[in-house]
Amino acid sequence: MNTRSRILQELRTTDGWLNGQSLSRKLEISRAAVSKHVAKLQKDGYKIESAPNRGYRLRSLPDTMSADEVLIHCPAKLAAKISYHHREETTSTNQDAHILATDGAPEYTLVVAESQSAGRGRRGREWLSPAGSGIYATILLRPPFPPEDAPLLTLLAAVVTAEAIKHVSPVSPAIKWPNDILLEGRKIAGILTEISTGPDLLDYALIGFGININTAQNRLPRRPIYPAGSLASITGRKFKRAEILACWLKIFATEYRKLLQGGREQLLKHWLALSNIKGKKITVRRINDSISGNVSGIDSTGALLLQTDDNCIHTILSGDIVPPDPTH
Ligand code: BTN
Repeated sequence: MNTRSRILQELRTTDGWLNGQSLSRKLEISRAAVSKHVAKLQKDGYKIESAPNRGYRLRSLPDTMSADEVLIHCPAKLAAKISYHHREETTSTNQDAHILATDGAPEYTLVVAESQSAGRGRRGREWLSPAGSGIYATILLRPPFPPEDAPLLTLLAAVVTAEAIKHVSPVSPAIKWPNDILLEGRKIAGILTEISTGPDLLDYALIGFGININTAQNRLPRRPIYPAGSLASITGRKFKRAEILACWLKIFATEYRKLLQGGREQLLKHWLALSNIKGKKITVRRINDSISGNVSGIDSTGALLLQTDDNCIHTILSGDIVPPDPTH
């Protein structure tokens, strides 16, 4: 832990005033160094009172996604594993992660941005990323998987995102195939997995996830079907983004370990349970046509298995589920 983080930790764990002299002794740095760090923390949005003879007192924390604010909520072992890159603004966290990955960055490198100017979604769509209101993050992984197993990572991320939201809020979102997270029929989160392949196995995979947390309805994109929403716009209350990301990381670490240990079937079951579409009659719009049938499951590549009226099982690799007609 660096000096800044240690000062913050002391401030967080002290009830009332923290004496400057004892702080400098404890951290083995000069009083001047302490006050320089405190000034920088104040500049970064930490409300820290200072008074002669008394020292420092932490009054409030900023709403930022910095490593200090996120990793404090993670177990030390997990926090130590994460190589955290925080950006005030970037084009796309996936793009940043690609650069880090090709430079040899390790698994669990995480890029988190307060805003993105060119956030990207599936199928070349844009992902609107207004400042300070959502989670825009990409995690770099290097699983020993053949490229055809990469879709499992997308299913994993969808499960983790839905579970993280369930943990921090009173609501239970559903997964819409392939990887949208819906709450009350509105899309509140999306996942974009990108891969780079080696001769046999993946070289790396990037899981980019965007979650609309406190985003005001008028800052969200207008979508013709499955309109966008945010956790706050739907529930009517605000959430702490840093705590949600920490929760995401904790659940992710557990579920990813299970997957690496061979828990593929378990993951598919978990995904299906959260998707709420098994056995339902749905229509999928594809590039050139639409197909309707009953969902019998998904296969290990993440493809949707649809049983049509003639009892044939169709494997649907990509497409968009059409919302049910409310008049039927
Ligand atoms: C989708 O539903 O179309 C996927 C959206 C994924 C958006 C996230 S935000 C963080 C990461 N960086 C990007 O440019 N995209 C993903």
